[in-house]
Amino acid sequence: MSAPDPLDVWHRLAGTSVLLDGFHALKHALRFGAEVPVAVTADRTAALALADELAADVRDTLEELLTEVPEPAYRSLVPRPHPTAVAALAVRPSRAAGLERLARLPRSAPVVVLDHPRNLGNAGAVIRLAAGFGATGVVTTGTLDPWHPTVVRGGAGLHFATTVERLTVDELPPGPVFALDPEGEDIRATKLPDDAVLAFGSERSGLSAGLRARADHLVALPMRPQVSSYNLATSVAMTLYHWSATGGAQAV
Ligand SMILES: C[S@@+](CC[C@H](N)C(=O)[O-])C[C@H]1O[C@@H](n2cnc3c(N)ncnc32)[C@H](O)[C@@H]1O
Repeated sequence: MSAPDPLDVWHRLAGTSVLLDGFHALKHALRFGAEVPVAVTADRTAALALADELAADVRDTLEELLTEVPEPAYRSLVPRPHPTAVAALAVRPSRAAGLERLARLPRSAPVVVLDHPRNLGNAGAVIRLAAGFGATGVVTTGTLDPWHPTVVRGGAGLHFATTVERLTVDELPPGPVFALDPEGEDIRATKLPDDAVLAFGSERSGLSAGLRARADHLVALPMRPQVSSYNLATSVAMTLYHWSATGGAQAV
């Protein structure tokens, strides 16, 4: 029996799968154990050359997985063609398993909470940071889907290197909540514990009333007077760095 047409497989799975848009997203997803039932490229030679250069560890898997399809067929599968002309679909990890990992104690690295984030690019950048620092996970509250293709693209496929779920404030994982707010105590006087829940407010309106009510501590990043606030993803970067530089990050 001949192998199924990858485009048929794609169309069958697209509605329920995670879109990996570009070579780097696919590379990261494979490295961190994603199940990838279909991967296509408009230029297999170029994609495998990139694998030789940047991803020797998953090169054999890529060689087995990647099917070349005509350029127009590739373009029809993605919202915005990627310079590497690679796209794949991955199985979305189980929510039940994700919730179990978020709830598990003791925890060796914080959970990052984005409270009602609005910008998909910011959410992707935060997931990439969480993956880099070995954070336990990223939780969002509100309506933004943290598995939206634009977030996965911004996160470079690193959703598979951490746990990513959407929850309500009432469902947040256990652990002391350190909420980041310019009006809080100077973070430099605070040691963030490994089981911390680090919460950040929305780009437009900051922390919600519900999140403030759950917070055990309000902490501020150093900032010169007259500057109102930092960008959300930048704030997460500084906070995770502070955690790692003050004793955390055994895993990194
Ligand atoms: C762009 S800011 C939100 C600005 C918003 N206009 C406000 O009223 O807070 C997004 C989030 O980044 C974090 N943040 C930004 N600058 C900060 C600072 N200097 N100290 C602590 N957190 C900060 C906070 O969690 C904030 O809610």
